[in-house]
Amino acid sequence: MIPGMPGDSLVYLNGEFTRADQAKISVLDRGFIFGDGIYEVVPAYHGKAFRMAEHLNRLERSLAAISIPMPMDRAALTAVIEKLIAGAATKDCIVYLQITRGVYKRDHAFPAQAITPTVFGMVTPLVVPSAQQREQGVAVVSIKDERWLHCEIKSVSLLGNVLARQQAVEAGVDEVIQYRDGFLTEGSSSNIWVVRGGKLLAPPKNNLILEGIRYGLMAELAEQAGVPFEARPIPRAEVESADEVLVTSATKEVLPVTRIDGKPVGDGKPGPVYRLLRAGYDARIAAL
Ligand code: PDD
Repeated sequence: MIPGMPGDSLVYLNGEFTRADQAKISVLDRGFIFGDGIYEVVPAYHGKAFRMAEHLNRLERSLAAISIPMPMDRAALTAVIEKLIAGAATKDCIVYLQITRGVYKRDHAFPAQAITPTVFGMVTPLVVPSAQQREQGVAVVSIKDERWLHCEIKSVSLLGNVLARQQAVEAGVDEVIQYRDGFLTEGSSSNIWVVRGGKLLAPPKNNLILEGIRYGLMAELAEQAGVPFEARPIPRAEVESADEVLVTSATKEVLPVTRIDGKPVGDGKPGPVYRLLRAGYDARIAAL
């Protein structure tokens, strides 16, 4: 039994498709021992992966960053993702892919001999944001970013993100906004956007944030909608006095943030830039 998840849901492990409650990995897998691996979360709508190429590009970048060889070519990985989507319980779903360095005797250094990476995939239903979240927005709390300095790697070493997210749960809100040295970084598992004077702002793409697949997409949607976009360091005061704040991720899609630390953002209602970008996002999904 897997608490919280149907045991018969489809998973892929090292070349085999099986049930979630049947798949087993070694206790010495370096993903388990060290968090030595990377992952991707690919959303699919009506049975089709959304932004697959961009997700695979990021997966390759994450692997290269920690010197894990690509375990199979893109076509084979795409076939795995497509088979998981086809076997999903719902047509809108989330494919989770994880690749670890593999199994070896415990030693912090990379294994002295070539080992085979562990490749795991699973598919779960995509629970899209509720109408209330879309229409009234979500609440967040501000916290200090205490994660490491390679947030650009989509690493499975997520303890910092886990502890950040738990603070949101304990505060009874949907997400956190993290600040490092007084500047906006991102959420626990999402990117954060600020709108000031009709302009969309995001923190620059660097080692302090994960470049979400929606990061590039939002820039595209902004351009399409005629909304100017600028990536630059954003001090906390500019977030707290913003006209609008938005949050994006594979699972949150695009949502308005309407309360920060209990105070309203702008007039406390989703704003016009949110509406434009949200409409663009919905149109991309509909066109899949
Ligand atoms: N998280 N920043 C962090 C730290 C994230 O974990 C995520 C995504 C994002 C947004 O990336 P994208 O637009 O590609 O979803 C930004 C996924 C959903 C997760 O860990 O489940």
